Amino acid sequence: MKHLILGLVCLNFVVFGTNKVIAGDIKAGEARYAQNCGNCHGPAGMGLASYPKIKGKEVSYLIDRLNTYRAGTKIGPNSDLMIMMAQPLSDIEIANLAAYLNAQK
Ligand code: HEC
Repeated sequence: MKHLILGLVCLNFVVFGTNKVIAGDIKAGEARYAQNCGNCHGPAGMGLASYPKIKGKEVSYLIDRLNTYRAGTKIGPNSDLMIMMAQPLSDIEIANLAAYLNAQK
């Protein structure tokens, strides 16, 4: 049993790997965005009041920002808000959100 579990863990590691190159799903990203991101960033990431516009940016830029916040690292003066928002995101959710936001022109 122990070996089976260990085997599954290893398999998991091989299949999902350690690198984060996941092709984002725009539709799934849109659904995730609708859960709460739009409350601050406005419809389709167009920006709202003092909250930054995030649509149309490079996928790599968006992923990098979200990973940075998720790690608890500050970027701007209001990072605390975003750190809270990014912490529950999975790698896949981040990839999906980045694909969705990148596709908004
Ligand atoms: C409570 C308001 C709020 C919510 C909800 C929120 N954000 Fe943010 N977001 C901010 C603020 C404020 C900043 C700027 C933070 C700073 O000063 O570093 C920001 C920054 C960002 C940035 C970096 C922008 C840049 O160019 O530097 C991205 C990307 C982002 N948010 C994506 C998201 C996503 C995706 C979600 C949903 C999971 C989300 N945000 C939810 C307030 C929010």
